Amino acid sequence: MESLLVTGGAGFIGSNFARMASERYRVIVVDKLTYAGNRANVPEGVEFVEGDICEQSLIDDLVNRTDATIHFAAESHNDNSLRDPSAFVQSNVVGTFTLLEAVRKFEKRLHHISTDEVFGDLELGGTDAFTETTPYNPSSPYSATKAGSDHLVRAWVRSFGINATISNCSNNYGPYQHVEKFIPRQITNILTGEPAKLYGTGAQVRDWIHVDDHNDAVLAILERGRTGETYNIGAGDARSAHITNKQVIEKICDIMGGDYVHVNDRPGHDQRYTMDATKIRRELGWAPTRDFETGLRETIAWYRDNREWWRGDKGVVEKQYAERGQ
Ligand code: NAD
Ligand code: DAU
Repeated sequence: MESLLVTGGAGFIGSNFARMASERYRVIVVDKLTYAGNRANVPEGVEFVEGDICEQSLIDDLVNRTDATIHFAAESHNDNSLRDPSAFVQSNVVGTFTLLEAVRKFEKRLHHISTDEVFGDLELGGTDAFTETTPYNPSSPYSATKAGSDHLVRAWVRSFGINATISNCSNNYGPYQHVEKFIPRQITNILTGEPAKLYGTGAQVRDWIHVDDHNDAVLAILERGRTGETYNIGAGDARSAHITNKQVIEKICDIMGGDYVHVNDRPGHDQRYTMDATKIRRELGWAPTRDFETGLRETIAWYRDNREWWRGDKGVVEKQYAERGQ
C-alpha cells in the first residue's frame, strides 16, 4: 500500500489522520468543505480535492487512483441532526453507498470509520461495556445514519466480497475539533468570557479518547486488520476519562479559571457510552498512550494559541445554541 484516499480529511479526525498518515503514505484528501470542514486543516504536502462523496464519477476517479480509502466524511454532530436530519441521511448513508460502489468496481481496500453511538446507550452507574457483538440500537438521527452506513459496509463485504473493515470509536478530543463540540465549546466559552454550558444535570458519561490514539488504532487496522472485521476503539482503562460531563466541565473550569451554568438538556440524550476494546488490543497490539488530564491541558493550550482558527465559527455556533436555550 502506497497511497490513501482520506474522505473528510478537512474535518477534525480526518485532518489529524492525514497529518499522521502522510508520514508513511501519499495521501489525497477529498472533502466537501461543509461548515465543519476547513481547508486550512489539510496538512502541507497533501493533495486536496474539494468535492462531495455522493458524486459517483469523482469518487470513482479518486478511489481508482489510490490503494485504499479511509472513510471519515460524515455529518457528525448529534444536535444538528435533531434540527435537520436531511444532510445526515445524504452524506452518511448515500455518501457511504457511493464509496462502496467505487470500492467494489475497482477492487480496492476500504476502512470505514464509525462510532460507539450505533449501540445506543448504557445505564448510568453500570460497569458493562459495548462489544463488537452488542446489538445496534441508535438513538439520534446522526447515530441511526451511522448505523445504516455500517450495515451497508457489512452487506457489501458479504454480498460482493469487498475488502473492508469497520471501527467504532468513542468520543474524541484534541486539536482542530469544531467549536460546536462539548470540549472545544467550553474552552472557547471561557476564552471569550462566557460561562461553560452543561446540558441538564451533566450526569451523562462519555469514554474520552485522544484523537491521535484513535488514529493510531485506525492505522493498525488498515495495516494489520482482518477483512470483514469490526474493531471497537476506546481508551477504556486508567488512562481514559470515564467521567461525567459535569466532572469534565469542572476540570476545564479548574484548569482555566472559569464557571459553568446548566442549560436545556438534549432531547433523547444518551446516558453512558463505555467501549470494550479488548479485541483490538489482543489482535493488533494497539493500546492508547495519552493520558486525559495531559491531553486536556494540551488541547486547552491549542485553542488558546489558535484563536484565529475558531473565532469565525464561534458566533454562528453560539447563535444556534441560544435559539435552543443551550
Ligand atoms: P467533522 O464534522 O469534524 O468532519 C467531517 C468532515 O466531513 C468535514 O470536513 C466535512 O466537510 C466533511 N464532509 C461532510 N459531508 C461530506 C460530503 N458529503 N462529502 C465530502 N465531505 C463531507 O467530524 P469528525 O468529528 O472529524 O468525525 C469524523 C468521522 O469520525 C465521522 O464519520 C464520525 O461519525 C466519526 N466519529 C467521530 C467521533 C468524535 O468523537 N468526533 C467519534 C467516533 C467516530
Ligand atoms: O461517541 C462518539 C460520538 O461522540 C461521535 O460519534 C460524534 O460524532 C461526536 O460528536 C460525539 O457525540 P456526543 O454527542 O457524545 O458529543 P458532543 O461533543 O456533542 O457532547 C458530549 C457530551 O456533552 C454529551 O453528553 C452532550 C454534552 N454537552 C454537549 C455540548 C455541546 C454539554 O453538556 N454541553 C454542550 O455545550
